[in-house]
Amino acid sequence: MQKVRLEQGNLFSERIGSHGIKNLEFFAWDKKIKEIIKKIKQESKKEEIGWPNLPFEEEEIREISKFTKTERKKWKNILLLGIGGSALGTAAIQEALQKSETKNLIILDNVDPDFFTQKLADLNWEKTLVIVISKSGTTPETMAQFYLIEEILKHEIKKGYQNQIIAITDDKEGELKKIAENKNYKQFVIPKNVGGRFSVLSSVGLVPAALLGADISSLCEGARTMQEDCFKEDLRENPAALLAVSAYLMDRKKGKRKQVFLPYSNQLTGFTEWYAQLLSESIGKNEETGLTPIKALGTTDQHSQLQLWSEGPNDKVFTFLEIENFQNNIPLPYFENKALDYLSGKSLNELIRAAKQGTELALAKKSRPNQTISIPKLNESSLGQLFYLFEMQIAILGKLYEINPYNQPGVELGKKITKKIMLGISL
Ligand code: PA5
Repeated sequence: MQKVRLEQGNLFSERIGSHGIKNLEFFAWDKKIKEIIKKIKQESKKEEIGWPNLPFEEEEIREISKFTKTERKKWKNILLLGIGGSALGTAAIQEALQKSETKNLIILDNVDPDFFTQKLADLNWEKTLVIVISKSGTTPETMAQFYLIEEILKHEIKKGYQNQIIAITDDKEGELKKIAENKNYKQFVIPKNVGGRFSVLSSVGLVPAALLGADISSLCEGARTMQEDCFKEDLRENPAALLAVSAYLMDRKKGKRKQVFLPYSNQLTGFTEWYAQLLSESIGKNEETGLTPIKALGTTDQHSQLQLWSEGPNDKVFTFLEIENFQNNIPLPYFENKALDYLSGKSLNELIRAAKQGTELALAKKSRPNQTISIPKLNESSLGQLFYLFEMQIAILGKLYEINPYNQPGVELGKKITKKIMLGISL
């Protein structure tokens, strides 16, 4: 299996001067990392946290593959109702893999009434499978849209409409669980010890991915391979620990709390959205602790944000994601124009690579810390590796900052206040 690789040279003072981390200072964290990795292994062994074990749940993966193999053929449209951790993983998978047999995937996360109307216009309901995903079963955006869709299905399909609904929710409790039991909807469970933004390798991401035609065995295999590296106790050999310690030191020692996530691939924009939630909801826990993600796209943002990045405040760390082999190779013609002759006979592939390297070096020259994750090829295996790598980075960061990366009290508060407003209770 081809592995994704991490290159961090441009984070160190040898390359970028005083804005970089000193080698000795960085590797002094080796002992702490050993303790942290041991602790994370224990927590997953005791099942206090469930996400590290998800790619090893062979029975669940087999059951999902079996169910979706036949179901996949029946539907033209997949309508997914869910928000945050219940939707961003699927969007990332779909954008990254763009399966050729892909159905029309519609994700209704936001409750914009116009978006809702546009997305459902002219939908052939006979050919539409609805997947409703909510761990709590009480998220108002998801449940409001679900009730609306359920009514439409009852009206359009009448008898047997239940066969067009799959509910993915908590295994024991919650409103969606009750509804699914009462109405006999097909169910998949989200394990109790797996939170929304860590759930992409559970049924939350795997059921829609398999329905879209993704090879979920390879996705999980990629994640399992990454676990081997991310469970290593030696800081030098553990890519998630390297990512976590560098982010931590850049914040605490260099005052850089903004993390620019910059894939050079349109297909990775969904992944960027997924990571932005993982980083902000997991680490942003008090006034002293939080890293702000900045979602960007190369080369596009070189022409909109690079000026600020290279000459504005030096308060950011840049993470490039680079694909080594694109699916397509697009050669360029010969240019008659002298000024553009340097492009003659090259390819778009060479151009995007040169643009990335140019940005990386330009940032380094201006003492802006940056690192690169190289992806040999974008497929299920590399995507599985990336999901696991960043989940583990966040788990380690949680321990470095001594905060709980798995809760989201700020989000819960927002939900409570929304409820009060909807009830007309004065605040
Ligand atoms: O990571 C999280 O816990 C959140 O982003 C949730 O996924 C999001 O709020 C949706 O919650 P639920 O799945 O309960 O509808």
